[in-house]
Amino acid sequence: MTAALVLASNRGPVSFGEDGSVRRGGGGLVSALNTTGAEATWVCAALSDADRRAARAGKAPAGVRMLDIDPVTFERAYNAVANSTLWFVSHLLFDTASTPSFGERSRREWEAYSAYDDAFAAALAEEAAPGASVLVQDYHLSLTPRQLRERRPDLRIGHFSHTPWAPPEYFRLLPDAVATDVLTGLLGADAVGFHSPRWADAFARCCVEVLGATYAGGGISYEGRHTSVDVHPLGVDGDELRGRGSSPDVEAKLASVRELVGDRQLLLRIDRTELSKNIVRGLEAYRELLRRFPEHRERVVHLAFAYPSRHDLPEYREYTGAVQRVAREVNEEFAKPGWLPVHLEVKDDYARSLAAMRLADVVVVNPLRDGMNLVAKEAPVLSERGVGLVLSREAGAADDLGADALLVNPYDVSQTAEAMHAALTTDARERAARSRRLATAATAFPPSRWLSEQLAAL
Ligand code: F6P
Repeated sequence: MTAALVLASNRGPVSFGEDGSVRRGGGGLVSALNTTGAEATWVCAALSDADRRAARAGKAPAGVRMLDIDPVTFERAYNAVANSTLWFVSHLLFDTASTPSFGERSRREWEAYSAYDDAFAAALAEEAAPGASVLVQDYHLSLTPRQLRERRPDLRIGHFSHTPWAPPEYFRLLPDAVATDVLTGLLGADAVGFHSPRWADAFARCCVEVLGATYAGGGISYEGRHTSVDVHPLGVDGDELRGRGSSPDVEAKLASVRELVGDRQLLLRIDRTELSKNIVRGLEAYRELLRRFPEHRERVVHLAFAYPSRHDLPEYREYTGAVQRVAREVNEEFAKPGWLPVHLEVKDDYARSLAAMRLADVVVVNPLRDGMNLVAKEAPVLSERGVGLVLSREAGAADDLGADALLVNPYDVSQTAEAMHAALTTDARERAARSRRLATAATAFPPSRWLSEQLAAL
């Protein structure tokens, strides 16, 4: 049976364990889908050998099509192109004195990426009913909209980028043919969406400067087609999150977080350990806070949850090492009997994260760049007494939360330390009032609205 709504993303809503057990992923998209009531099919990639075995054995649950893409193609498409190239471009992460350097190997990797995106397009063409809406997610699948349109011109195709978009002068460091492929790939969609007007504007400028396309009427016109360029910020579903945040597994974690913190203030950060999350500078800012504002010594505990991410990439493994090193240095410099300034936790524990967000006095979200950043939105919603938010101005979330957060330049460690100080010393009533306004802003665009607006735009 074909579906009237089809989603495509690299990481799907389920994964398989080595023993064949199914794990269901949470996340905004899954819950948003549940609220539409639409008959949706989700096309995703098998990400591990266990997934590939399950995909081959037809074990994916109803409504999920998991693509068994051969591991070499997957590795080149996911690690080399999507994560090491396109992610680095959109987050401006290259150390350009030495990287990137595109040679023969990059051409092979690009061919693999193209084949991988085409496998998605082929599957989507099979799964979509006549005239169906297809929503393609993220930088892993930037060629898929055009590849799908060539197969199925009857479809309404949307593409959404959850990342920032690079300005043209940075985007152009991609080889010309690749830059053109990425842009024309996305322009195969009827509508492309971004979390922030800043990213939408950067995309439009890339189309104008790299392709010579026209940007007018809220969209790009290129080679006889028009693609609308839209902004759909994603927020959180307040009721659902508060319900999840008071479930038994979270309640069970509250005591251990309270025990760690004692009667001190809790300064919290929660990130996947990605280079763009800027965890090292965040810890350096905390060190500067303790050096310059000694009144916080022994009066604050910094819980830093830095969960594993993309460990196949050496840069990520090295970055995890750097995070651990700085945390150790801060503890060596300041620890006293009965007070450990930083507790760094690298083992993923969602219930503990929610418990910590309920109790935090200040949350630090200081990415170098971020498409949106949902931790910044979840923390005020879950906070029991009100939370101060130190937020990078380079996160998409700054558009929605900027009025009541303490905005920082993520490269400015001293400014971040000062913002931490200001947040820790804000009067409790003022902090609670700001936190309530942050929670209102954070829940203004729940996933259901994010999804329905995109479908309406198609
Ligand atoms: O956070 C941005 C994002 O692009 C998500 O949209 C996407 O699910 C994720 O990063 C990809 O991460 P991973 O490589 O772990 O699947």
